[in-house]
Amino acid sequence: MKVMLVAGARPNFMKIAPVLRQLERAGHTAVLVHTEQHYDEQMSGAFFNDLWIREPDHCLGVGSGSHAQQTARVMERFEPIVESEQPDWVLVPGDVNSTLAAALVTAKLRPLIGCRLAHLEAGLRSFDWRMPEELNRVLTDRCADLLLTPSRDAHGNLEREGIPAERVVFVGNLMVDSLLERLPAARARNAAAAFDLVPGHYAVATLHRPSNVDDERALRTCMAGLGAVAEELPLLLPVHPRTGQQIAAAGLAAELGCLHLTPPLGYVDMLSLVDGAAVVITDSGGLQEETTALGVPCVTLREQTERPITVTMGTNRLAPWPLTAAGILASFRAARSEGRSPPGSRSPEGWDGHSAARVVAALEN
Ligand code: UD1
Repeated sequence: MKVMLVAGARPNFMKIAPVLRQLERAGHTAVLVHTEQHYDEQMSGAFFNDLWIREPDHCLGVGSGSHAQQTARVMERFEPIVESEQPDWVLVPGDVNSTLAAALVTAKLRPLIGCRLAHLEAGLRSFDWRMPEELNRVLTDRCADLLLTPSRDAHGNLEREGIPAERVVFVGNLMVDSLLERLPAARARNAAAAFDLVPGHYAVATLHRPSNVDDERALRTCMAGLGAVAEELPLLLPVHPRTGQQIAAAGLAAELGCLHLTPPLGYVDMLSLVDGAAVVITDSGGLQEETTALGVPCVTLREQTERPITVTMGTNRLAPWPLTAAGILASFRAARSEGRSPPGSRSPEGWDGHSAARVVAALEN
């Protein structure tokens, strides 16, 4: 079996890493395509190193741009690769622009060369059509021959959209495969010490959603909330490039002296810091899942989440919407007083480190 895996942006790398290894261990031919939607060492190369991902077979060099530019560039550059490689399966993870672009190319080539499309992390829905990721998720699922889900709630979403049940297979959460594999290295690293932080006595925050950072008022509200938190507990903020640009444009840098700002961190450093945190505050999808797997309380700065299982079962809570500094602080206090749970004790079904094996079995079947 020949399987093409497509990765483009930071949250994709931890999902493809275990699948790539499992495919090669099982004797299948894996072809790795990196669209290079993310291309900086900090957003891409560091993750290849930390997650032991081998060199890609094809790099598309699409880089940054508008949604249309990014999607179109991936499509143009990906099509000839699928035509020449003639894979049995194309495997796309998540919900970034590269995901949808590769899905569209595969679906259109399917009648010509017989390749089929599998979507990793299928069926998640925020029901918020203003999010580019929601468009990417729904349309990728609509194109897919095989929809591989991370949690059971995804099945109800797909059924409501009329996707036949025989196309949908529960595989659990691939991020947890990567997390469990690298947790010993993360614990040995003690990244907190490099920031003069004491394990269990600091918070970590990340922020990069366009709805929180591209609008100056929203960005100021989030930063005021994080500033209020930092008066109670040291707070480390690794700054996503999008957020860094918006902080500079708003002239906010001087007002953030109370926060520990740092450039984006590699996978093992970030895992080490999240594992040692009292509370995580984020608008990232991946961190909502990682904190649930680790038992670390999480406050999510969004109106809704496409990962509701992290709230109903895990350690996540949504800050009151619309966001205010007082609401963020109150949610942080509630999360902190709830405290940590033993790792894995709040993990949903299938968040067990064996999802890649279930993915490969689903493709073989
Ligand atoms: C993308 C995904 C988002 C995901 C996020 C994780 C889409 C629509 N969005 O958002 O779902 O949660 O990745 O990080 O696909 N930049 C760099 N270096 C890089 C990459 C980007 O400096 O390696 C800067 C560029 O100025 C770029 C900006 O960051 O314009 C935003 O990058 P982009 O890939 O467009 O979107 P993200 O906000 O990263």
